[in-house]
Order: sequence, then C-alpha cells, then structure tokens
Amino acid sequence: MSLTDANGLAVSTDSRAAVAHLSQAGALFARFRADPLAELDAALAEAPDCAMAHLMRAGLLLCATEHGLEADAAKSVAAARECRTNERERAHIAAASAWLARDFDRAWEEYGAIVAAWPRDLFALQVAHQLDFFLGRRETLRDRPTAALSAWREGEPGFGYILGMQSFGLEECGEYAAAEDVGRRAVALDPADAWAIHAVAHVMEMQGRTEEGVRWLAAREADWAPENMLACHNWWHRALFHLDRGEFAETLALYDRGVRPSRAGGPQPPQALELVDASAMLWRLRLVGADPGMARWAEVSDAWAAVLESGPQSYYAFNDVHGIMAHLGAGRRDVATRTLAALERAASAPGSAGSNAALARDIGLPLGRALIAFDRGAYGEAAALLAPLPPIAHRFGGSNAQRDVIALTLAESLLRAGDRAVARAIAEERLAVKPDSMFARRLAAAAWARRPA
Ligand SMILES: [Fe+2]
Repeated sequence: MSLTDANGLAVSTDSRAAVAHLSQAGALFARFRADPLAELDAALAEAPDCAMAHLMRAGLLLCATEHGLEADAAKSVAAARECRTNERERAHIAAASAWLARDFDRAWEEYGAIVAAWPRDLFALQVAHQLDFFLGRRETLRDRPTAALSAWREGEPGFGYILGMQSFGLEECGEYAAAEDVGRRAVALDPADAWAIHAVAHVMEMQGRTEEGVRWLAAREADWAPENMLACHNWWHRALFHLDRGEFAETLALYDRGVRPSRAGGPQPPQALELVDASAMLWRLRLVGADPGMARWAEVSDAWAAVLESGPQSYYAFNDVHGIMAHLGAGRRDVATRTLAALERAASAPGSAGSNAALARDIGLPLGRALIAFDRGAYGEAAALLAPLPPIAHRFGGSNAQRDVIALTLAESLLRAGDRAVARAIAEERLAVKPDSMFARRLAAAAWARRPA
C-alpha cells in the first residue's frame, strides 16, 4: 500500500502517522525550522520501513557538508535499500548514493532529475537547490525553481517556498529587481520563510543598501531567528550590513549574539556551514584592521579542527579555506598548513567539474595559499595568487556575498603590496555598485592616498 504526502506524492508505507511526520519534516525544512530530523525519527518510530523517511534523513545530513556525518547518512541510505520503494524513492537512493560516493556533480544531476520528473517533490528541490549553491551553479539556482512552479497552484502551501528559492537564484544571477519582487511575494505568503527573507537581504547586500538591510532583518528577527537552522547565516548577513557601514562594535555584538560557535542556543558541536560565516566575518574584520581578538579566533579555530580533522582528507574545499582563515587568525599556522595539505591532496586526485578535486584545484588551493601568504606578510604573492580567482570564483560554491571575501582580500593585498593601480580599479568598480560601502570608500581612499606624487 502507498499513501500520499502533503504535496500529493506517493510514499511507500502503510502508516498515516509516518506520512504526517514526513510532511511535517518537509514543512519545517522548507522554512529551515528545527527540527526536521526529530520529525523523521518520529516517522521511523511509526514505520521503520518507510524508505522516504530514511532518504530525507540522509539528504538532510548530506546538506551539512561534513565528513563526520557521512556514516550516519550512509546508514540511512542502506536502510532505505531494504525497504519497499517506488520509482521516486529509488531515484532518491541513487541521488544520495552519488553524494555519499563524493560525486557531487552526479548527486546534483540525480536530485535535479527527481525535480524534473516530480516537480512537486519540494524536498528534492530544496536539496538540489542547496547543491546548486554548494557547487556555484547560478543558472540552475534560478531556473530549477522557476520550472517547478508550473506544477504548483499560486498560493497553495509550498508555493511560496519555491518563490523564495527562485528569488535567491535570481539574485545570484544579478537580476536584483526581479529577485526582490519575487522574494517579497514569498515573505508575504509566509512571513517566517527564512530563505526568502535571506534572498531579499542578499539583494540589499549586493546593492549596498545597508540601512535598508539592517531594517529588513531587524524587523523580522522573530521570523528568522528562533529555532532556525539559517539563523546564524542571517545574523551574519545582519552583521555584514553593519560592517560595511564601519560600525565595528555593532558588528562584533551581532557576531557574539548570533554567529560565534559558543553563542547561547547554538548547535553543539557547531556546524560547518556556520563556521564558514564565523570565519569569514572575523577575516573581514581583520582585513580592515578591526582585530576581533584572540579569544574569538581561537574558538572558531578549535571548532574547525574538530570538523575538518574528523576525516583523513578534504571533503568540501569551500569549508577548508574558511578553516584556514580561522587557524591563521588564531596564530596556528601549523594547523592552517595541515588543512592546506589536505587541500593539496584533494586537488591532485582525479575529478571533473563539480568534484571536490576540481573545487580544490581551481579555487581552494590558490585561495588557501594566498591566505597563508597574506598572513605572513607576503602581500604581493597573495595578490598574484588571488588575482585570477574572482571571475571563476562562482565555481567554488557559496553566494556572491560570501565569495566577496576573495575580492576584498585581493584588494587589501594589492594595497599592502603597493600595487595601487589595480587596487584603485577595484575600488572604483566597487564604488560604482556600492557608493556608501565603507569597504569601497576605505579602499578608494587608501588607493588614492598612496598614489605616487
Ligand atoms: Fe546568504
């Protein structure tokens, strides 16, 4: 017997209670609310042979991009293989298995194929959307939710979350007006749609609308902060607006409140996706000479060591370079060098576009080396390593806003190396887009001030 979930999709189980828990897990994940895993465990307590509960569990664990969670995800996929399954569930087994085999590109294809065949599979769409994000696939970030919308009725439950994904994809493709319009529609449908709130914040970030950005996030704090898996990231965005206004005390206060690993109510152990934000914020503060203090650096470095050294090799190069930032900030060059060595091993492994080997080769390794060069004061070397990266950095995964740390480090390296001409060009480009940005103004002032007489 099979039953039907909240989105009208067949689920191979006889337990209505299990399907209710599955649907609730999907509804929570759609808003990034805690705790979809608890709902899936409840589904499995009702029906241990419910393949989709095992497969959603695996998908959620894999989305954490942590080596240490692989074994748990693999157990869930193995359990699903023992269950009765339909065609869609078997497609989920194939997709999760590809990810477990570290073939990110094939996982991306397989989850995408599920969405193409079953556009009402909101969970598969979300996982595919996260893979688009992890692999820097801007076009599919935008186009996959756009295509799926045709299978949904305007305003029905679930419709708005797809708008939120479409909004983020539009933003990453630089279509800011459309992104803001679609994102605001999604937030109107569900004010607690954390991903859509986040997408609109991205538009404001990219356009340098810092005052609006602070207001947008502060006014909706009750909708995106409590018990939300995206809360740390949205705190990061809020702090970033203050940082770009030169408000360092406010930036650090928000960092301590919502981003730092030891914050009240944060997950223990801290998750890689959150440590990325913590590291990048501290590194940005370092770039502008606003030292965040050794205690903050050490805390993030410790947390990264636990995540990155849980396995013998690099799992996701995007995480590794952020670990290197934290280790360097904490004065632990030896640990940073160990992480770099893991990246070197990853880069020398075979792997086509979309594999961690390719991410490491194209971006991770030169970026990691540049960070280490910057730390030891070899600014010319850092600039030379960083200069080729901005045009291809999207391949590395993450968002435009997150990857901006590469351009900011390049600009600062150029300034410190005395290469004012290129620094000025970068400053003028940034000022054209973000005339009020403290980073842009500071960079421009420094580049012009240091111009030779
Ligand atoms: Fe973001």
